[in-house]
Amino acid sequence: MCGIVGVLGTHEVAPTLVEALRRLEYRGYDSAGIATVNEGHLDRRRAVGKLANLSDLLVHQPLAGKAGIGHTRWATHGAPTEVNAHPHKAGPVAVVHNGIIENYKALREELRGMGAEFETQTDTETVALLTQYYLAEGFAPAEAALKTLSRLEGAFALVFLFDGEDNLMVAARKGSPLAIGHGDGEVYVGSDAIALAPLTDTITYLEEGDRAILTRTSIEIRDADGHSVDRPAKTVSIDAARVDKSGYKHFMAKEIWEQPTVLADALSAYLDGDDIVLPEGLDFSETDRVTMVACGTAYFACLTAKYWFETIAGLPVETDVASEFRYREPPIPDRSTALFVSQSGETADTLAALRYCRGKADRILSVVNVAESSIARESDIALPIHAGVEIGVASTKAFTCQLNVLYLLALKAASDRGRMTSEELATALAELRALPGVFNAALDRDASVAEAARAMAEARDVLFLGRGLMYPLAHEGALKLKEISYIHAEAYASGELKHGPIALIDKAVPVVVMAPNDHLFDKTVSNMQEVMARGGQVLLITDATGAEAAGEDVWRTVILPEVSPRLTPLLYALPAQLLAYHAAIAKGTDVDQPRNLAKSVTVE
Ligand code: F6R
Repeated sequence: MCGIVGVLGTHEVAPTLVEALRRLEYRGYDSAGIATVNEGHLDRRRAVGKLANLSDLLVHQPLAGKAGIGHTRWATHGAPTEVNAHPHKAGPVAVVHNGIIENYKALREELRGMGAEFETQTDTETVALLTQYYLAEGFAPAEAALKTLSRLEGAFALVFLFDGEDNLMVAARKGSPLAIGHGDGEVYVGSDAIALAPLTDTITYLEEGDRAILTRTSIEIRDADGHSVDRPAKTVSIDAARVDKSGYKHFMAKEIWEQPTVLADALSAYLDGDDIVLPEGLDFSETDRVTMVACGTAYFACLTAKYWFETIAGLPVETDVASEFRYREPPIPDRSTALFVSQSGETADTLAALRYCRGKADRILSVVNVAESSIARESDIALPIHAGVEIGVASTKAFTCQLNVLYLLALKAASDRGRMTSEELATALAELRALPGVFNAALDRDASVAEAARAMAEARDVLFLGRGLMYPLAHEGALKLKEISYIHAEAYASGELKHGPIALIDKAVPVVVMAPNDHLFDKTVSNMQEVMARGGQVLLITDATGAEAAGEDVWRTVILPEVSPRLTPLLYALPAQLLAYHAAIAKGTDVDQPRNLAKSVTVE
């Protein structure tokens, strides 16, 4: 969602804040702003839209000071206007906030009753005004912030900065992550370690409910009950925090094309010869059911895993999107494992679903990209996907790396449950090891995907069809296309077509059919014929055998290398990503930061 940063520095902080915000811009880009204290005076600059607008503003209206806070916004309460942009300031206090203050309406009424006037529609302004009220009551700045925090309900990460105090920040975490960075005579706060990477690799992660009172030379952390606590400092890998496009035009392009290397690295973290290396105690022989929960792309990874777990390991799997699961009060039977998939590890609905399962499922597993994330830390066993930092808002390499870990888990479950011999396991792992090379060959088909994407970019609607393992991928392809090219796209199970959606078919609606030549191929070809018989234009993504069998009436064909049918979801994800990418380029949309979206969704 929003990104926040704070610096008590020894040099001018405005450039440092802007650079940190650049690294956080993936979290939201509706507006950006900074506030600093200069010679005791608190001032701020804010601009609507991308961070570049704030940088431009700072050229004409610079902001001096060695203490400051910054914010990049994904709008929740109040339109993305300058007045609603953070930092929010009320007299002598400025605040940056990520999350939602759920009781802000009640607080607003209370403050109005005391004569406060509101300038914005945001929940955050309430925090600033309440702190101003406590300051006026005579509380010292840090105490006023703590008193305010004790009144807030909801999920938030907050940083406070005060007029007249150029050596004080107060930071708080409840539901939204916050990291404190240790510098040489300096101290930093950020939504994640990536934001702080150029400044420090020594990080203390705040725990749920923590509040921190920070000066350049002291860090005092209190837990939710107000007790002073020690939180360990960790050294984070700077490599993991690398954020550059490596010569690509977009982060998404870089992240698509680095998948062969990333997958090879991710595999090496989990494979040792013919063995899958997983944490001690991760065994499925006593498990009768797995419940998998996630959002968006991560949910489609779960849906794919359902096919793997059920077919390969004979283990029943229930999947659900987290926003539905969490309020459905689903019964969790005995001998259940609950598994949560999340790139960021901070998605609010997924985290809430995990907390619902705590105490009900036998154990809680998670598959995450951010090892220090809330979801990882609240799981019994967290399995990192080793995708590296993903900046493009549309998830690409994280999806294939999630699939990789889920596939390994399905293989492990199959061998734990006696459904797979060690020879069969060795063969499956050998196929998987060869996949990065096959990825390279698939990426070589880029030109044919790009040509199809350009031809498709004029369409208003696109249908994606798939059967079996290609059904979840059809959903992922449709999601990718709509989120970055803004073309309306829907996915259906190929067999469902004639139960309604076939009414949509005409020349103007391209139909993307994902169909490797597997045991379901002939059935999909029949569905494809039904489309073509009604004038529908089919883009078939298949292998050489499939292309030959499909005949000549297909509008366009993308031919991928042949792989074991089980591995097709990983491989066919690449043309689905490329299709969306090239359609977005053809339409001139903002590929890495599509409208209305944010990378990490820490609100409901
Ligand atoms: C789509 C996309 C989103 C995320 C979803 C869950 O490209 O990235 O649909 O998959 O918001 O996010 P995480 O995986 O961080 O829980």
